[in-house]
Amino acid sequence: MTVDNEIKGRLALITGASGGIGAACARDLLSAGASLALTYSTNKTTLDELIDELKAQAGDRKISSHQCDVAKDDDLTRLFDEVKQEHRQHPDILVVNAGYGKRTSNILDISIEEWDYTINVNLRSSFIITKLAIPHMLEQHWGRVVYISSIAATGTSINGCHYSASKAGVQGLSKNLANKMGKDGITFNDVAPAMITGTGMIPTEENLKGTPGDVKNIPVGRSGSTQECANAVTMLCRTGYMTGQSLLLSGGLK
Ligand SMILES: NC(=O)c1ccc[n+]([C@@H]2O[C@H](COP(=O)([O-])OP(=O)(O)OC[C@H]3O[C@@H](n4cnc5c(N)ncnc54)[C@H](OP(=O)(O)O)[C@@H]3O)[C@@H](O)[C@H]2O)c1
Repeated sequence: MTVDNEIKGRLALITGASGGIGAACARDLLSAGASLALTYSTNKTTLDELIDELKAQAGDRKISSHQCDVAKDDDLTRLFDEVKQEHRQHPDILVVNAGYGKRTSNILDISIEEWDYTINVNLRSSFIITKLAIPHMLEQHWGRVVYISSIAATGTSINGCHYSASKAGVQGLSKNLANKMGKDGITFNDVAPAMITGTGMIPTEENLKGTPGDVKNIPVGRSGSTQECANAVTMLCRTGYMTGQSLLLSGGLK
């Protein structure tokens, strides 16, 4: 069987590219030779600035920008229509990165509305976007799906149980699909980061002080960088023999 781990010439759709981890994935996959379809929900300017930065490097490869609130089913279907229109194809690589988490730690303070919204943005949309992406990947017998989950999936979190449940759900979705679709040439993995600074969620290490993610609790003694998340994502895209894995990216934090 031939091994095809080529990223060059593929189209990568990255959700939440207006945020820290998504932007780093965009830079890295562009460097690896992919064309990009990038989404934002509210921060258009941030994504516009990123695209301006990347244009020089892109050459004749296309980078498209799409507004998409992943909590809205119609936005997700529109996103796929727009990507097809702009790139003449659906994505070969899907990085499901857009996510939401509020630091409400105590279950008694988590409203049912907040639970529903968190599950919708982080888990329900992951299912829908995967369903939209699969037909093209099946057709060509090649695809890479990488979810950005979280260390929270296994319990440790600066957020509440609603966030942990949503990210654990993403890991279950990924592992099930990896088993079911391994023979279809599509891999499913998740990167489970912890305490990544330079992001909207955690701007600096100051924001971690006094929490379980305080750098004094992290064995390597520092927070993680968005580039380190992107390294793991690109590695998974390049490594078709790896599927159904959760890569904990946490500086040793458990
Ligand atoms: N930072 C960490 O330590 C850490 C740890 C574990 C997991 N994660 C996960 O990493 C992913 C990226 O987060 P980040 O750390 O890079 O934080 P970030 O900089 O705040 O980025 C969050 C991204 O998600 C997008 N987003 C939020 N709600 C959305 C919605 N309803 N529809 C569509 N997009 C939405 C945001 O879009 P707009 O800004 O355009 O609204 C933004 O692009 C998330 O899934 C998060 O749960 C982060």
